[in-house]
Amino acid sequence: MTGQLAINGGVPVRSKPFPTISDVSGRWLGEEEKRLLMEVIDSGALNRNGGSKVELLENNWAEMMGVPYAQAVTSGTAALHTAVAALNLEPGDEVITTTITDMGTAIGILSCNLVPTFADVDPRTGNITAETIARQISPKTRAIIVVHLFGQAADLDPILALARRHNLKIIEDAAQAHMAQYKGHFVGTLGDLGCFSYQQSKQMTTGDGGMVITSDEQLAIRARLFADKAWPRGLPNLPRSHLFLGMNYRMTELQGAVGLAQAAKLAAIVARRRQTAGLLRRLVSEIPGLIPPYIIDGADPAWWIFSFTLDQSMLRVTPQQFVTAIKAEGLPFWLGYIPNPLFEYDVIRERKTFGSSGIPWTLPQARQGISYDRRHYPGTMQLINETLVTNWNEGMSEADAHDIARGLAKVAEYYAR
Ligand SMILES: Cc1ncc(COP(=O)(O)O)c(C=O)c1O
Repeated sequence: MTGQLAINGGVPVRSKPFPTISDVSGRWLGEEEKRLLMEVIDSGALNRNGGSKVELLENNWAEMMGVPYAQAVTSGTAALHTAVAALNLEPGDEVITTTITDMGTAIGILSCNLVPTFADVDPRTGNITAETIARQISPKTRAIIVVHLFGQAADLDPILALARRHNLKIIEDAAQAHMAQYKGHFVGTLGDLGCFSYQQSKQMTTGDGGMVITSDEQLAIRARLFADKAWPRGLPNLPRSHLFLGMNYRMTELQGAVGLAQAAKLAAIVARRRQTAGLLRRLVSEIPGLIPPYIIDGADPAWWIFSFTLDQSMLRVTPQQFVTAIKAEGLPFWLGYIPNPLFEYDVIRERKTFGSSGIPWTLPQARQGISYDRRHYPGTMQLINETLVTNWNEGMSEADAHDIARGLAKVAEYYAR
């Protein structure tokens, strides 16, 4: 039976706040993090050079992922900048990425004076595909940054095959997809380099932080140098040198301590997210008028965001009206994940990069006349206008999933045709 909607003065389905990624209600942070953090403080060695926690986190992360090399850095953005820099491309070269992501995906491209081009997304998943990437390949294209959006793997096999045919490097942006799997492999391990973010909202967190992984020794060496001012510390007999332009992206031991404790819990965190988000997905599939999150063949998502869409043939309501109604029921959803395609943020639209130069687009060696127009991105615009999302977290219980489903069912039933 449909109760009166909360937007019409009825009683909301849920008045208690849901667990959130913004505080401890939705994060598994506790005694182990405190113990390791205190060890660092008591040791007085807070920098990774001289400490042991960051190195141990790198070793543990590499082992968990099943790759030989891992490089800890200060953020996911730093991880992506480090990965792009490790490729050592020429200014004006192009890197294809997605329209639907955090700006951190594109910052490394721009910072290396490379021109981003954008593939459209499959609106069902928000991920770029081999077909949409192929349309963007030009003689200047050198690499692809594939984002695994919302915690679900992009369909990598055809993308890897396309990259091989065109001799393109692949960076996987797994910032949102720790331990997500694609055909039995962890995402981040199938491209040339994989990048993770440990920012507050991610499956595991160090507040801010990130990791780059690779199986290629030369890329690993270059990534390690880049994140430490290209200072070859491992070679004690050499005079101090800085071998090329690098950054200081060194993770601190304080972050490393928290990261070690979090990484030890990550499998359990992801399992918990799968259990509760999987339940909600099943409940949503039973609500007439709602379309549950679409999972591609071979993917096992790590559930950073839970998303769904409306079957407009069954409901007489716009997605925006539906969001307003479910918010009033106490469900923390919003529309579209990001409000615009990535290329409409000022930094890209107005070329606000290096002074008024317009670099990299204006570099003489760059392909001239590159522009971005949302009219060429139907999948992107469909996702932004029609997909309802909420952050998922390990604090969510089965009871929480049932409450969300009850709220969704109440609103969907009210608007049924
Ligand atoms: C897909 C994606 N890429 C990159 C980033 C950047 O990571 P960070 O915020 O740690 O710099 C994020 C995080 O927000 C992200 O979700």
